[in-house]
Amino acid sequence: MSHANELNCLWIPNVREKLKSLPFNIEEAWKNKNEAFQVPDAPGRDLPVLERGRRGERRGFSHPEGQARLLHDLASIELQAMELAYRSFVEFPNAPSEFREQMAELALSESEHLTLCLDRLEEYGFQWGHWPVYLSLWNSVSREDSLLDRLLIVHRYLEASGLDAGVSLLRKLAQSHSPALTQVVKKITEEEVDHVAFGSRWYQFFCREQRLDADHDFKQRLSVLSVQLPKRFEVIDPQVRQRAGFTEAEVKAAQELREQFLQEKKSSI
Ligand SMILES: [Fe+2]
Ligand SMILES: [Fe+2]
Repeated sequence: MSHANELNCLWIPNVREKLKSLPFNIEEAWKNKNEAFQVPDAPGRDLPVLERGRRGERRGFSHPEGQARLLHDLASIELQAMELAYRSFVEFPNAPSEFREQMAELALSESEHLTLCLDRLEEYGFQWGHWPVYLSLWNSVSREDSLLDRLLIVHRYLEASGLDAGVSLLRKLAQSHSPALTQVVKKITEEEVDHVAFGSRWYQFFCREQRLDADHDFKQRLSVLSVQLPKRFEVIDPQVRQRAGFTEAEVKAAQELREQFLQEKKSSI
């Protein structure tokens, strides 16, 4: 690892060290984007990463271990979201400066979510790495993505389905009498509305710039990219999606893809 990459949060294996590298890293990235800030094939981890599909038994949210496990899963998501924001920041150096500033803020917001999850996890008496971690979010993007692809995949698919999941999780947690956990999920879900809205706003902006009809482009692009996306079966929540800048046509396109995934699942059984 070169000295430059020691500053780059994507390469740093230790999660707390990664967090410490922000936000100075982002300033450095701005200055040294050509040489220093390369994107690795997989982000640094100092614990084993498992393939999907081996998640094992989980305890319910009424049990402290089930609550800690949820925090661990959330931490893994927040970590990848932070890295993906950082990665887009590095890979799209020619995007408008306002976009880049907002992307840098988004990376910082994810780092706060991650810190919150790790701190609460430790309060439950568990360490990061107690359960397996995955890279399914990171693996959804590719070096070949256009900026529109990336905005769709990260903010308008992954984060948007996270938002649907957050809303339904809050409903479940309402019966679990775990105010500390509920507070974390509530804060993250509220702030994720802004992350998805960031994606919607800029997606629609870049479509206008390229003289594309955003509704039509979203439906088409979602369909093309769907082969590389992890399948999400969470019920789409139109209200929260609309708060996050989705048009009615875009909500419909998201619902149709979910239907398609459900059909595929049914016919594969
Ligand atoms: Fe987040
Ligand atoms: Fe986010």
